[in-house]
Amino acid sequence: MKLHELMDPQYSENPFLLYRKLHEQGPLIRAGENVMISGSHAIVEALLNDRRAGKNYIESVRLRFGDEFAEMPVFQGINRMFLVMNPPEHARLRGLIMKSFSTKEIQPLREMTLTVGNALVDAFIDRGSCDLAKEFAFPLPVQIICRMLDLPESIAPVLGDAASALVKIFDPQITEIDLMKAGEAFSELDDYFSNLIISRQENIGNDLVSLFIGSENDGDRLQHDEIIANVILLFIAGHETTSNMICNAVLALHNNPLELELLKQDDALIPGAVIECLRYDSSVQMLYRTALEDIDVLGHHIKRGTNLFLILGAANHDTAVFSSPETLDIRRKEGRCLSFGGGIHHCLGYRLALAEMEAALYILLTRLPTMQPLMSSVKRNLRANLRGVSALPVKW
Ligand code: HEM
Repeated sequence: MKLHELMDPQYSENPFLLYRKLHEQGPLIRAGENVMISGSHAIVEALLNDRRAGKNYIESVRLRFGDEFAEMPVFQGINRMFLVMNPPEHARLRGLIMKSFSTKEIQPLREMTLTVGNALVDAFIDRGSCDLAKEFAFPLPVQIICRMLDLPESIAPVLGDAASALVKIFDPQITEIDLMKAGEAFSELDDYFSNLIISRQENIGNDLVSLFIGSENDGDRLQHDEIIANVILLFIAGHETTSNMICNAVLALHNNPLELELLKQDDALIPGAVIECLRYDSSVQMLYRTALEDIDVLGHHIKRGTNLFLILGAANHDTAVFSSPETLDIRRKEGRCLSFGGGIHHCLGYRLALAEMEAALYILLTRLPTMQPLMSSVKRNLRANLRGVSALPVKW
């Protein structure tokens, strides 16, 4: 297996073919001089929990694009996000952000997602058809995060589009044009949140930005640029991951009508169905790590400097953990789904993501029970790391 094969469009259509191929080739596959790929649940989970398999962001930018690119504001901005940091910087920033981004109170989040989701459906229910991606799944998480930041609803589409342009920066196949657009999106978001922080400093409220401004740990506080970068992180980490996951779940259920019927008859099955859809067809397909030291893991040796591609989708289809992994079984009990990652970088927003997905499925099942995707018009995106759709036409 060579690295470029991971990006083959045939796998966007059917990633199960890729998973099978990875599993056939073994738990840890050498894919080049200093590149290894794993789709083994045990190895992926072990490496996510191993601090020697860490992040090396600016170095990876230098390798991919050249030295001069590493100084671009967009890459320097991303470098201030705790997503790409190692301990101890990661723990410091994640700790300060987590103090405010507490989603322990899950009930208000559920209510908020139901309100936002129902309002989106109100706008198109009389039409009998819509693009579910554009009119429901994409706006939903952006509107929620805007509410958490106490921003006007009218700004949500602008910030959502900017977040979508910026997140492409993590796409291994990014084009020059997309790189330029990602840079513009970053500077747009940077300006917007910089001004917002200044105005909230003068007028502290109960919103997330105000909480970040006030967040403190033993006298340590978040700096202006750190707040900007990590608010942008919440947008890019929480938007297309969730939107695409809602679309993947709708498609998975419609392609498995018996499971869909079960769900329609008993909405208590929704939380289990959400986890199973995350396992079956995850929006986040792969994570990257670099071996910061030599690593011995489950009988395999990884040399320092090796670039590691951890294929979450394949790990979620590993028969060592999941029986009949290609079957969607919303009552499945076994195995730990790795779609939210693991270890110190485990998804900060997973409770919010689950609340959003559960609310989305509940709303669609109750308000549009006869909804059918127009399968021949569904457009899969062709991105190797973030699996989803660019259009999901449906009718009812
Ligand atoms: C990290 C998946 C939704 C915020 C991650 C990681 C994964 C992931 C796999 C680990 C990245 C790594 O190890 O490099 C998902 C999926 C989602 C989702 C599948 C939706 C279905 C959200 C939401 C938010 C969010 C709604 C917040 C608004 C974050 C943040 C991190 C993260 C801040 C970085 C954590 C760290 O580095 O310590 N997510 N995510 N995610 N996620 Fe999510």
